[in-house]
Amino acid sequence: MSTPESGRSGRAAPFLKWAGGKQRLLDLYLPYFPAQGERYIEPFMGSAAVFFRLRAENRFREYVLSDSNFELVNCYRVVRDNLDALIEKLADHRDRHGKAHYEKVRAMDQRGLGLFTPVERAARFIYLNKTCYNGLWRVNRFGRFNVPMGRYTNPPILDEAKLRAASAALQGVDIRCEDFRMVETSGLARPGDVVYFDPPYHPASKTANFTAYQPDMFGVVEQGELAGMFRRLAALGCTVLLSNSDTPFVRAIYAGLETVPVQARRAINSRAASRGAVPELLILGQRA
Ligand SMILES: C[S@@+](CC[C@H](N)C(=O)[O-])C[C@H]1O[C@@H](n2cnc3c(N)ncnc32)[C@H](O)[C@@H]1O
Repeated sequence: MSTPESGRSGRAAPFLKWAGGKQRLLDLYLPYFPAQGERYIEPFMGSAAVFFRLRAENRFREYVLSDSNFELVNCYRVVRDNLDALIEKLADHRDRHGKAHYEKVRAMDQRGLGLFTPVERAARFIYLNKTCYNGLWRVNRFGRFNVPMGRYTNPPILDEAKLRAASAALQGVDIRCEDFRMVETSGLARPGDVVYFDPPYHPASKTANFTAYQPDMFGVVEQGELAGMFRRLAALGCTVLLSNSDTPFVRAIYAGLETVPVQARRAINSRAASRGAVPELLILGQRA
């Protein structure tokens, strides 16, 4: 049976669970993306749901994916470049899975992840993603992963078909580990590029905790900087799209731009009771 995560008819689809993942919203979002273009840039890639669909539809000739989470980026590079070795390590994690193994793998960062190969780090990343509570990636202020093990009977630690499809889709893709600001500061974005920003969302309430991906916060200052950059890229001649929560703050910083309300159903939320539809905005920017 096809699930939202497995993609349609064997197409490449996200292989990670990721807070704010866009897989369930693709059919609502995709009509707003250009049908064809030269280059697509996604600076907050997360599980890269939008990229996988655009790539399957062959909409662009070149793709640049980026995220500031190094473990995530390393994982994509290994899936692209060293898949067989990764599959072997994941099979080993699958065979050893249990509480003691989980804790041992989680604690690898106490020794310093620099001691491990990129393949070992990518396997650790996927293993923790599949077995930790809710698939959350959360590190403490020392950068150590601190999510407890989830209660899953048979977590999909190794889904070889999905990884092979993702690896094929990632061939030739430029995968970077950068802060979002590099899109502008490094001169990456050029007129004609299509840039999709899916940043950590501005919290809809004081208790919402959707910005907790990394120790460095994504607060109102970053949201404001991103909004400024969004307008400058549109003025430069890029087609710019951005998702965020539908809050008065977000509406204010993108005032005057075309906004499309979208009803999101979140996949990751610690309280099942609040897994309802959450209003989001898709913001569109193009040179006038
Ligand atoms: C909402 S998620 C993206 C979800 C993605 N579109 C998907 O479908 O899974 C936001 C991403 O932004 C990344 N991030 C947070 N701060 C960042 C920054 N300053 N620069 C670049 N990426 C950042 C996080 O690591 C996270 O993967």
